[in-house]
Amino acid sequence: MHIAMVSGSNRKDASSTKMLRYMKRKLQEQGYAVTLVDIYETPLPMYAPDEDGVHPNAARMIAAVREADGLVFATPEYHGSVSGALKNALDYLSADEVRGKPVLSVSSAGGAVGVSSLTQLQAIIRGLHGINSPEWVSIGGGHRFEGDAPADEAMRKRVGRALDTFLKLTAALKAVTATC
Ligand SMILES: Cc1cc2nc3c(=O)[nH]c(=O)nc-3n(C[C@H](O)[C@H](O)[C@H](O)COP(=O)(O)O)c2cc1C
Repeated sequence: MHIAMVSGSNRKDASSTKMLRYMKRKLQEQGYAVTLVDIYETPLPMYAPDEDGVHPNAARMIAAVREADGLVFATPEYHGSVSGALKNALDYLSADEVRGKPVLSVSSAGGAVGVSSLTQLQAIIRGLHGINSPEWVSIGGGHRFEGDAPADEAMRKRVGRALDTFLKLTAALKAVTATC
């Protein structure tokens, strides 16, 4: 199975990107192929439907999502919602790339939890005809990382459970799609 991740923080040492790097490593240890698109490293121009052609960074991001069986999207919580950078990336996508695929949502908030951005991200995923994984991952303001790994064991366990559910859903849907 192939998993694509899009990190929506336009910040060098973003906690949401660290979480995706940690998840990527955990998935690779289990033998999954993972593509991580970090919007800070490969910025996307403002989506402009009237323009001809697609910027190479956007083309790579769209291809990664299209080729994946399951998706992980991460965002900082900005003013109770997703970042403009992630929303701009999602505007490049359509149901053609996302339809029927499980999506695990991740957010990092300054407050205790990022429920507002996670809820809004899940609404956007519905708009893209994706399937929201039952769990999500919220990084609260007090949370610390050691390198790219969550410092807190309880957080590492929560992430492990969320990934496990997401992977089971992705495998089940891939099996159903293969027989359709
Ligand atoms: C423009 C802006 C708006 C923010 N709005 C919120 C907010 O509504 N709620 C919140 O809990 N934190 C808010 N924060 C704090 C960020 O969510 C927090 O710093 C987060 O950890 C950043 O994620 P990152 O490290 O992945 O970039 C805001 C920060 C900025 C810069």
